[in-house]
Amino acid sequence: DLPARVRIHEVGARDGLQNEKSAVPTQIKAEFIRRLAGAGLTTIEATSFVHPKWVPQLADAEDLFPLVRDLGVDLPVLVPNQRGLDRALALGAERVAVFASATESFAKANLNRTLDESLAVFEPVVRHAKDEGVHVRGYVSMCFGDPWEGAVPLHQVARVCTALRDMGCDELSLGDTIGVATPGHVLELLSVLNEAGVPTNVIGVHFHDTYGQALANTLAALQHGVTTVDASAGGLGGCPYAKSATGNLATEDLVWMLHGLGIETGVDLGRLTATSVWMAAHLDRPSPSRTVRALSHK
Ligand code: HMG
Ligand code: MG
Repeated sequence: DLPARVRIHEVGARDGLQNEKSAVPTQIKAEFIRRLAGAGLTTIEATSFVHPKWVPQLADAEDLFPLVRDLGVDLPVLVPNQRGLDRALALGAERVAVFASATESFAKANLNRTLDESLAVFEPVVRHAKDEGVHVRGYVSMCFGDPWEGAVPLHQVARVCTALRDMGCDELSLGDTIGVATPGHVLELLSVLNEAGVPTNVIGVHFHDTYGQALANTLAALQHGVTTVDASAGGLGGCPYAKSATGNLATEDLVWMLHGLGIETGVDLGRLTATSVWMAAHLDRPSPSRTVRALSHK
């Protein structure tokens, strides 16, 4: 059985733009987010309150967030530690995301901590956020494979997911950071998580399209009951600390499939495609999304 409605968690402005070589001007980012909201997206990850030396592309978070704060949509932001949470709360952020890894190698590369050290950093951050009435998402990267470690045992993913849930995370997002997952693997992981006590209704999926599997993986997750799907407008993205990562599943490709299945998203595909075409002109390269290309050449 497929869900009647899917909530799209749009990550283009964060996961997409964090990986661009050149810094996108703050006003263009704000306009991008405004247009995404205008296209009907209701959860738009806006930026990250991380160390500006680690991700210079998002160093303007303090300037950007106030420009989009009053759009009337949910605007989650990434926070790696208490410093990041303080910065986000000072600007009135109502949704934050901590980001853990299922592997040691990526915890080290992305957060400069061991896996357990990073979980220890998140624990009080999640607690403080919940005390402030802030919604917390917990990302888990490298759920399906790691560029340094190869295969990632399912129980290792379950351990990190359970730890994040025990801290108080409201939802989880299973990251296929390097895009190596295939549908059977997705179903296996979801079953193992359910057996470990993580209910499907708190799970979102975050696929990167490196091997062209993101839509197939999404369909498998929907069939299992998942109703939150991360995607990036125009297929922008990658990850600066995982060299084999390419762009996220393109939101347009996702919407094309969902609407074809009769699943509601609230998204106007024409307006979304126009937004990605506009952004591609600013980035001076075409969108990798097949749907964007097909619809913009009509
Ligand atoms: P560190 O160097 O270990 O930091 O970096 P530290 O805790 O030792 O502090 C060093 C200095 O940084 C201190 O300043 C801190 O105040 C400052 P000093 O006292 O020396 O002047 N500092 C900060 N400044 C501003 N904002 C902060 C902050 N924290 C410390 N939040 C740190 C550790 C976590 C900060 C660093 O590794 C970092 O910023 N990492 C972010 C990496 C990142 O953003 N990666 C991309 C997002 S994850 C992703 O894309 C995957 C995902 O899409 C899912 C998937 O696909 O799998 C979510
Ligand atoms: Mg990602």
